[in-house]
Amino acid sequence: MTSPQLLLDQLAAEIRACRKCPLGRLRTHAVPGEGPADAELMFVGEAPGYYEDKQGRPFVGASGQLLEKLLAGIGLTREDVFITNVVKCRPPANRDPLPAEIEACVPWLQRQIDLIDPLVIVTLGRFSMAQFFPPTARITRIHGKPLVQEDRAIIPMFHPAAALRNPNWMRDMEADFAQIPELLERMRAKRAEKRRGEEGPQQLRLF
Ligand code: URA
Repeated sequence: MTSPQLLLDQLAAEIRACRKCPLGRLRTHAVPGEGPADAELMFVGEAPGYYEDKQGRPFVGASGQLLEKLLAGIGLTREDVFITNVVKCRPPANRDPLPAEIEACVPWLQRQIDLIDPLVIVTLGRFSMAQFFPPTARITRIHGKPLVQEDRAIIPMFHPAAALRNPNWMRDMEADFAQIPELLERMRAKRAEKRRGEEGPQQLRLF
């Protein structure tokens, strides 16, 4: 059987060769994302910026430094989590990604989510939030409020770049991050319960 890590690496190779939208011709490097295939926690940002495009790695600039600091505050490092973006190639001059670019790119994110199957997804900023929440959702209202599904939670947060600009949002982001360990614990318990439910009939057959 092919290992999930190998499948994730193969997916990254496909993303690096992607030409589904015009950003594919403008990039230095595509930025598929990075982290272990069995990550429980996944971060989804907006799109690569200048440094990410140069290095082919997500969140390596100032936003990435903040993300690492916030992760350290909850006892994690970036190697523990999967970090990616909605759009895998840098929009010119860091403009907002266009709807057609998002539409072309989002199937890659979906395949990453399917493979990694994270317990908790943290959306960073409004473009990422919009992939999981209704169009009427406002980040200032719903940040830090997890959407709990059957065995996964999605928690919207400000984009680190926004928190770096606004001290109030920085405080909000720190408070939102502080919820992650408990949310992970809750989702681990929920998933274990679901597995027990699925195993139930087999166990019964033993007696
Ligand atoms: N901002 C993002 O949304 N993603 C990155 O990878 C870097 C900065």
